[in-house]
Amino acid sequence: MKTLILYAGKYGCTEKAAFLLKSRLGEADVVNLKYAKVPVLSAYDTVILGGSIYYGKIRKEMVMFTSKFERELSEKRLGLFICAGMAGEKAEQELHQAYPEGLYKRALAKEILGDEVYPDKLSTMDKWILRMVKGKGNEAGAGLSMDKMDSFARVMAER
Ligand SMILES: Cc1cc2nc3c(=O)[nH]c(=O)nc-3n(C[C@H](O)[C@H](O)[C@H](O)COP(=O)(O)O)c2cc1C
Repeated sequence: MKTLILYAGKYGCTEKAAFLLKSRLGEADVVNLKYAKVPVLSAYDTVILGGSIYYGKIRKEMVMFTSKFERELSEKRLGLFICAGMAGEKAEQELHQAYPEGLYKRALAKEILGDEVYPDKLSTMDKWILRMVKGKGNEAGAGLSMDKMDSFARVMAER
């Protein structure tokens, strides 16, 4: 059976995380929820969902996807991740709230993989808000955690 990685991001960090996971898992299909048709889920026994957090919430494409396909997803070997600028308790809360409770509880792996910010790509509004929150010159993210990526992939690869 196959592995599917479905992601919803805005500027590229979540996409990068999705492909870094794929490179650790070997065979996996990677699909951007924003642009691609949702694949037939019955073809996969393992599904990894990832999304980035804005204003405390995961991208709306992921909210719509998980609410529509919660039943099918609950039968999969499931992994959940977020890309987020927050750390600690606040980020744990964001991860918990990002996915339906039933899926969160069942997931084999769930992780906050870190964040990357690409200042040149940000919309004027996002740039302005990030500057307000983090201060001018401090917009860059802390980076994606390769250790967390490795352990997430290890759990998902175990059969
Ligand atoms: C305008 C803006 C708002 C953000 N809000 C949050 C937030 O509420 N919580 C958080 O943990 N990270 C927040 N972030 C950080 C993003 O989640 C992080 O940069 C992530 O890596 C973006 O991934 P993407 O490029 O795939 O969208 C925010 C970033 C921006 C630019």
